[in-house]
Amino acid sequence: MTVINTVASLVVEDGIGILSINYPPVNALSQSVREGLVQGMRAANADPAVKAVVLICEGRTFLAGADITEFGKPPRAPSLFEAQDEIEGAAKPVIAAIHGTALGGGLEVALCCHYRVAVPSAKCGLPEVHLGLLPGAGGTQRLPRIVGAERALEMVTGGTHVGAAECLAMGLVDELVPADGLRAGAIAFARKVLAEGRPLRKVRDADDKLAAARGKPEIFAEFRKANARKFRGFLAPEYNIRCIEAAVNLPFEAGQREERRLFTELVTGAQSIAQRYGFFAERMAQKIPDVPADTPTVAVAKVGIIGAGTMGGGIAMNFANAGIPVTLVETNQAALDRGLAVVRRNYENSAKRGRFTMAEAERRIALLTGSLDMNSLADCDLVIEAVFEEMAVKKDIFAKLDRIVKPGAVLASNTSALNLNEIATAVLRPEAVVGMHFFSPANVMRLLEVVRGDKTSKTAIATAMQIGKKIGKVAALSGVCPGFIGNRMLAARGAQTQAMLLEGVMPWDIDKVLYDFGMPMGPFAMSDLAGLDLGWSRETSKSSTIRELLCERDRRGQKTGAGFYDYDEARNAKPSEVTRQIITDFVAQQGRQPRAISETEILERCTLAMINEGAKILDEGIAIRASDIDVVWVNGYGWPVYRGGPMHHADHIGLAEVVAKLKAYGPLMGPDFTISPLLERMAAEGKKFTA
Ligand code: 3HC
Repeated sequence: MTVINTVASLVVEDGIGILSINYPPVNALSQSVREGLVQGMRAANADPAVKAVVLICEGRTFLAGADITEFGKPPRAPSLFEAQDEIEGAAKPVIAAIHGTALGGGLEVALCCHYRVAVPSAKCGLPEVHLGLLPGAGGTQRLPRIVGAERALEMVTGGTHVGAAECLAMGLVDELVPADGLRAGAIAFARKVLAEGRPLRKVRDADDKLAAARGKPEIFAEFRKANARKFRGFLAPEYNIRCIEAAVNLPFEAGQREERRLFTELVTGAQSIAQRYGFFAERMAQKIPDVPADTPTVAVAKVGIIGAGTMGGGIAMNFANAGIPVTLVETNQAALDRGLAVVRRNYENSAKRGRFTMAEAERRIALLTGSLDMNSLADCDLVIEAVFEEMAVKKDIFAKLDRIVKPGAVLASNTSALNLNEIATAVLRPEAVVGMHFFSPANVMRLLEVVRGDKTSKTAIATAMQIGKKIGKVAALSGVCPGFIGNRMLAARGAQTQAMLLEGVMPWDIDKVLYDFGMPMGPFAMSDLAGLDLGWSRETSKSSTIRELLCERDRRGQKTGAGFYDYDEARNAKPSEVTRQIITDFVAQQGRQPRAISETEILERCTLAMINEGAKILDEGIAIRASDIDVVWVNGYGWPVYRGGPMHHADHIGLAEVVAKLKAYGPLMGPDFTISPLLERMAAEGKKFTA
């Protein structure tokens, strides 16, 4: 064996040089890996005993992409291009042996190899778009030469990881090898290439797939149109599209120059900086200083869920998707049947849309068992209570669970705002009680707010965080306070939007500003969707708020065809003259003069109030770090990921500026509004939240 450098080695076995990379955890293409590839290829090329080269990685994955931590720093030689040139220009066939994930720069290296083999579980993709980037090492030029322009457009703008079988079908991979025989399979393939005298195939030279798209600008126009909603606000998808257009219309070198130019623009821009920050923020959120990675966890083999409503059913689907059996408990058969029927319909719809087969849908449905008896939860490792938000009901349920569920199990509440410490007083094992706050629709939204009570054990926290990752959620830890991290900040924003209504601004004017900022919908459209009558009753309604007035007129949201907005049959929203009149009259009744409020003021009062509340949350230790707050808002509330999150946004504005603006708004922010001392202190010291 020849040691090439600290991460690369070369072994020659009967004419085949095996260039192996070992750079845990994910073999990211940092300087040492690039160096290993360059020197390793040079050594293999120079050695007459080597007739073909297999490029393989140790550990859990093939090269998972460029080293993201190097972006924004001065470049260190050799570049990725040098490594790619050594491979593509080799005088001997080079075969990439792929396991785990060949992503981004990793796939771009594999695309410079003359052939690619993979184990069936391997995945390939160009996920740069998720970092606000485009594949900057020839990926946008080589990929469409194999899979065609249309498929390449989907892959680069979707950033999806494509399974090995599909890669084989598309020609991205040349052969699948047995799961436990990557090395041997790749060597055998290399021998076949030699024996058959196959050419040194260079992807850059292929043209037939591109020729098929040449002279058809409509392919791109239609793709842009079909995805306009999805790409709204983002720069990277458009830049990725331009690169595929360049691949189709320009010679390889010119296309690659265009790719480089656009990559450079993106990598230095605010959006990619925010999205790269988001990548590390999500991973950082998993780390809890006093709950180390080796904290014992409960192995979750069976889950119980109490409440088969929208929330309970959605939560159950997450576990069934991960292959974990769930028992759903309801109080009566009708509610149980309804809940299970909704889950069934969701699965069947997904299967009809082609997300998985009907057999797979049935397999997942079979993992769900309904029950009317809480005793059936006795052997669950994790029970999640998901009933309506009433303390007495929740405490009653936890007291019963305490008597039923086996010792050592984790008892979780999906409460979105109630005091978890009080819930925990209902049991004799408060250490087992943790909050697991899912976001609606629970089978879709990525966020899981894990709530730590005063007595919650480290094991319960570690279990909740770990199972969250297993079911595909992004978990973030919150301490106990009304609304936890997310809803508490939502309330701070809500105070401003309500105040602005009373200053005479119309709901659609506020919604538009927040939508244009990048939120998926404004707060009033969101209220209409959720229903204005949550917690409202005709008997107690006193026409004392705009919401009460709307509900009294049976404008209870989308479900009644009217709320803040009017809705047509297709649920398209339109500003409502009735609402306008209700607000105008109400403002007059309060003896207030409506005033015009600028879009800037609307945006600033909403976002700065959130930032201020975030600072208080941080100061009180409810959130461990500012980036956790951003993880909550991006993944649970649709804060535009290209703006990082409220706290990252605060740093972008500058904390001194945030404080100055809040002071300037003064009494408009409301009688209860106070500026966070932490925010003021950090602003005075010139600090950042997310440095
Ligand atoms: N660069 C630097 N660090 C990386 C990294 C990368 N590309 N990918 C992962 N890491 C780090 C993570 O930050 C994490 O660090 P930590 O342990 O200190 O928190 C560690 O590796 C493990 O990562 P995960 O927790 O995400 O591990 P998983 O096993 O869950 O997932 C993965 C593995 C699917 C490879 C996932 O890490 C991933 O998606 N990585 C990013 C892949 C990517 O985006 N590649 C493209 C990069 S941009 C590029 O290539 C530009 C090129 O076109 C020029």
